[in-house]
Amino acid sequence: MEAAANIAGGGIVAFPTETVYGLGGSALCPEAVEKIFLAKGRPGDNPLIVHIAYFWQAPFLVREVPIKAKVLARRFWPGPLTLVMPKSPAVPEAVTAGLDTVAVRMPDHPVARELIRLSRCSIAAPSANISGKPSPTTARHVLRDLYGKIDGVLDGGPCEVGVESTVVDVTSRVPVLLRPGGISKEQLEETVGEILVDPNIKEPNGDVPPRSPGMKYTHYAPSGKVFLVEGEPEKAAAWIRRECLVNREKGRRTAVLCSRETAHFYNGCVGSNGFVEVLGSKSELESVARHLYSALRRCDLENIENIYLETYSAQGIGLAVMNRMYKASGSNIVRV
Ligand code: TXA
Ligand code: MG
Repeated sequence: MEAAANIAGGGIVAFPTETVYGLGGSALCPEAVEKIFLAKGRPGDNPLIVHIAYFWQAPFLVREVPIKAKVLARRFWPGPLTLVMPKSPAVPEAVTAGLDTVAVRMPDHPVARELIRLSRCSIAAPSANISGKPSPTTARHVLRDLYGKIDGVLDGGPCEVGVESTVVDVTSRVPVLLRPGGISKEQLEETVGEILVDPNIKEPNGDVPPRSPGMKYTHYAPSGKVFLVEGEPEKAAAWIRRECLVNREKGRRTAVLCSRETAHFYNGCVGSNGFVEVLGSKSELESVARHLYSALRRCDLENIENIYLETYSAQGIGLAVMNRMYKASGSNIVRV
């Protein structure tokens, strides 16, 4: 496979995973890692996740595999779970941004796994977007951000999960959830008992320094202004509807990203001046997760100025959905 040869030779290639598209390079090649940071415009203090295809690759990357990491990996790998473990000296500093830990994940996507196998490398890969933009869930998203800056992209169609992997630090006795994602907090607790939650996850909290460097940057943000409207569903919808009508008067381009249950509230209130997109049902948050990033990207394509989001239950994958929505809004939360 050409892409695998490219990675083995120090190039960088975007590829699909079950969560979002990644931008991969050989994890043991500092030049490739450098190219990844450059292409994304990523701050140098934000470490990368190393992707593996076999369990036996992990011991080369880490100094030890903590017992809870073994239990979690056995249950959830391959899958959308990233484990932060003590780093081995083999992993270049550039990958871990100088930290003494390394994040490792085994993706569950046939193309990703084949790429890792054929390139005979562990692959360092952040999401394949320009830093700060929503992660890409199709090859087309990747090309819009990175065309001309990378050596290629493998097209595996749209990603199944749609938000990034769950990141868990397993270096302490009680594991710490650093980023909610495709594996829920409830699933983690069922497997290893108590899980602490980094206080930055729900609402970004200026007082507590984030343990996952990625959590401190504004993320997942489209160019327009995002309003996250919290409150009883009918009241929130009524508020959004009124705002849409005002925006329409003023000729301001508007988007509403809503649930199937509330979509009818917005009939006719945006007109040709934007769009209303249903992300999914409030009772099936997997669908909301799957569609969120492409809907946020559509806002940029259509030059939307004001974007309205509703809130969802923070259960299951809902915790990841709400975390990404808080971040996309830059904490611009309207309580009605
Ligand atoms: O689903 C995913 O995880 C995707 C696909 C491509 O695998 N990758 C991804 O990578 O989302 P990225 O780089 O966009 O996000 C990695 C997150 C960042 O928040 C980073 O700070 C955190 O993981 N991270 C990486 N290494 C870490 C470490 N040693 N300690 C704490 N956090 C770490
Ligand atoms: Mg990212």
